[in-house]
Amino acid sequence: MNMKKIYGIIGDPVSHSLSPTMHNAAFEKLGMDAIYLAFRVSPEEVGDAIRGGKSLGIAGLNVTIPLKEKALFFVNVEEVAKKIGAINTLDFSSGTPVGYNTDGIGSLRVLKETTCEINGKNVLILGAGGAAKAISFYLDTDGARVTIANRTKERATQLASKLRNADSIGLDSELRKYVKDSDILINATSVGMYPNEDATLVNADMMHPDLVVFDIVYNPMETKLLNEAKRAGVKKVVDGVKMLVYQGAASFKIWTKREPPINVMENAVREALIRKL
Ligand code: ATR
Repeated sequence: MNMKKIYGIIGDPVSHSLSPTMHNAAFEKLGMDAIYLAFRVSPEEVGDAIRGGKSLGIAGLNVTIPLKEKALFFVNVEEVAKKIGAINTLDFSSGTPVGYNTDGIGSLRVLKETTCEINGKNVLILGAGGAAKAISFYLDTDGARVTIANRTKERATQLASKLRNADSIGLDSELRKYVKDSDILINATSVGMYPNEDATLVNADMMHPDLVVFDIVYNPMETKLLNEAKRAGVKKVVDGVKMLVYQGAASFKIWTKREPPINVMENAVREALIRKL
């Protein structure tokens, strides 16, 4: 008899994650005998959790805050994830856990759908943490001119120095000029996330209508940043749900080798977010 396949997400906090909702909807749609669960794991326990997951026959895991960098030390790391310096996906199918990073692929796919061409575009990324690292790696590789803007400027400088064609700035008066000169603005910080929904690092008066504004925060779906963008007449505004879905879809494909039902996954996430309001 085939055993039910178990997948999950490890992190802390993790109880509000929408990954279980999204992946379980996909399993149901494809008629797969599989379940996806959330496991609260502290940084001290990440090695034990990965070894335990392997022993228990878990098929695959997502890795989230604050474990994305620490988990690297306990697995074989795929080349791109190694360059990014963080993983969000673990595959156990070959026996040894292998770590991947699908955050960057997810954001690149979102942007390509919205703006078509990345090559030569000026992209301003707010943040220099794990998410910013993954996103900036892909955009830089695709030929964008990236500027990293971060509250702690040293982190921005450090990240920019690892990229091919990137600058770094702080969140001071320079920011206004950079927003004005950008084609794409990405918030890769947690600013604006529930319960601090009134926060934004960039306001309407700094934006221009041809800017593409993309927020990786998905709770709330319409963040203050996106609201300000609409107020500024910005035509292309992208919320964080798509990135969540695309990174999840890329993980799903790594684990199951099947084509993920993207629309089903996206609807499940949007419905769950609306129910919470
Ligand atoms: P993640 O892996 O989700 O990117 P992280 O590594 O903790 O998480 O990074 C969070 C990012 O949000 C950082 O760039 C952080 O700025 P600092 O490097 O200065 O800490 C940014 N951030 C979080 N809260 C912020 C705030 N209130 N104002 C500005 N930036 C903030």
